[in-house]
Amino acid sequence: MLAEWSNRVAAEYTSATYAAQALHRAIQVGLPDELHRTALRIVGDELDHARLSHDCLTALGGADEPIPLELNALALPSPEGPLAALVDNVVRNFCLGETFAVPLFDAMRRTATHPAVQPALTRILRDEAVHRAFGWSALDALLQVDEAGVRERIIHQLPGWLEGFRKAYATMPDINTLTADELAMGLIPLSTYAEVHDQTVAQDIRVRFAERGINLQGTA
Ligand SMILES: [Fe+2]
Ligand SMILES: [Fe+2]
Repeated sequence: MLAEWSNRVAAEYTSATYAAQALHRAIQVGLPDELHRTALRIVGDELDHARLSHDCLTALGGADEPIPLELNALALPSPEGPLAALVDNVVRNFCLGETFAVPLFDAMRRTATHPAVQPALTRILRDEAVHRAFGWSALDALLQVDEAGVRERIIHQLPGWLEGFRKAYATMPDINTLTADELAMGLIPLSTYAEVHDQTVAQDIRVRFAERGINLQGTA
């Protein structure tokens, strides 16, 4: 249980670096100013989420728990230039990552009654909906910069990115039953991760890409 919360601290801190890199690239590429301001806000949100998650970890007794951060993984590569790097970051971490995050945090929050955990999850859930909206708005802006190139890049990369999320969320056997305490502390069963994953791909992600002329089946 403590390991799960220390993973969340690392994940939120990593999200802050992704948002900071999205902000940097969005300024470089010259996206609309409104998106710069939202990206700037998201950097602050994710730093808050990392701190709030660490506060939860401490409240649950894990003040000395190590945080599994890999410094090398915090820098996103950009061998093909800033536009390509921004497309990859926006689609993988925001259009996909944040679109999965919203229903996952919603599921966690539904059973999390622990007084140190529930307010943190409430705040995080509220912010992640803004981060999800940023992803799809930034994608629309990127399609306006270079519609054919951006679409081609996404169609090429999407199957690999989706497979990464499927592996993370939907391929592990659910062998442990969570206790009532663990549910109260904001954990959810692996079967819920899998259900949320499948439902979000089918009912949300697939639809949003289709609205932008990107067919998930065509990329599989
Ligand atoms: Fe977050
Ligand atoms: Fe986020």
